[in-house]
Amino acid sequence: MRYRTLGARGPAVSVVGVGGNNFGSRLDEEGTKAVVHAALDAGITLFDTADMYGGFGESGGARGDGERLLGAALKGRRDDVVLATKFGMEMGPEADQYGRRGARAYIRYAVESSLRRLGTDRIDLYQYHEPDGVTPLEETVAALREVVAEGKIRYLGCSNLPAEQLTDAFVSTQARYHLLDRGVENDLIPACLRHGMGLLPYYPLANGLLSGKYRRGQQPPPGSRLSWREGWLTDAALDRVEALTAYATERGLTLLQVAVGGLAALPAVGSVICGAMTPAQVTANAAAAGWIPDAADLAALDTIVTPGERVV
Ligand SMILES: NC(=O)c1ccc[n+]([C@@H]2O[C@H](COP(=O)([O-])OP(=O)(O)OC[C@H]3O[C@@H](n4cnc5c(N)ncnc54)[C@H](OP(=O)(O)O)[C@@H]3O)[C@@H](O)[C@H]2O)c1
Repeated sequence: MRYRTLGARGPAVSVVGVGGNNFGSRLDEEGTKAVVHAALDAGITLFDTADMYGGFGESGGARGDGERLLGAALKGRRDDVVLATKFGMEMGPEADQYGRRGARAYIRYAVESSLRRLGTDRIDLYQYHEPDGVTPLEETVAALREVVAEGKIRYLGCSNLPAEQLTDAFVSTQARYHLLDRGVENDLIPACLRHGMGLLPYYPLANGLLSGKYRRGQQPPPGSRLSWREGWLTDAALDRVEALTAYATERGLTLLQVAVGGLAALPAVGSVICGAMTPAQVTANAAAAGWIPDAADLAALDTIVTPGERVV
């Protein structure tokens, strides 16, 4: 596993991380533990979750199981990892009592709740999941800095913020980015580079489409994400998957290696936070970053999906 600094000012992270949005929803405690332990064995140090991951209960409130199960799986290994979580998306009636999600009262409630669920005394990277649309960003940042000063947060990050709102207060941002959607290269990545921020691409495998397990004319594997998530297995996307697969084969690689190693090599990318359902998936994702494209490889990749292009 390779390690690098997240942006210019962030923590050191593994080039492949684990995205935790299956934990507590599609994976139970044992399943989560198996994925997390395989990740640790592969040298992965970055684990990303959110307060609203892990499903919603009957009252309409987020159960918080994503954080709870990740925290439990990391027991005894807390000091070995960079634990990243997020706040600011809809959590349901209890959280709604605290008002605007970018304001101080809400942030204090959200931090304490995440610390409790994660079973830790500090969050390494605390990310504003999406802007609430009303609170000035300066107010949100000031409230977050108070919590940093108290030692409960080490680094601040954001997510889903438009390029023009990025600020040096954050060490990183998250945005949708994979080899079939290079839209962030138009404005967000240049802004990240100007601010010295790292990018944590979400859907880095295009929800599994870039893992190699989906083929034109074949049914998706039973239970796989794209067997129920619509809008991804389009003809346009499958055309480019075929072109990327040919590119991989020419170089003696798998599509997964191209998807992970290729993305990790693009400017501003800090860590490729792949989601996983099984230990075998996480082990394969970690190994896939072993491929480091050279300038000619990257130029050839640009002829398949051009910089800035969105295919799916
Ligand atoms: N900031 C935001 O708004 C935001 C939004 C979305 C996600 N995120 C973060 O980004 C992380 C990554 O995104 P994601 O997990 O949604 O999408 P992803 O990484 O593109 O896809 C994950 C899915 O791909 C399949 N997969 C993974 N490795 C595989 C392998 N080696 N072989 C075959 N299939 C494989 C698995 O699906 P199967 O079920 O088919 O096995 C897995 O659930 C999330 O976990 C979350 O932490 C953030």
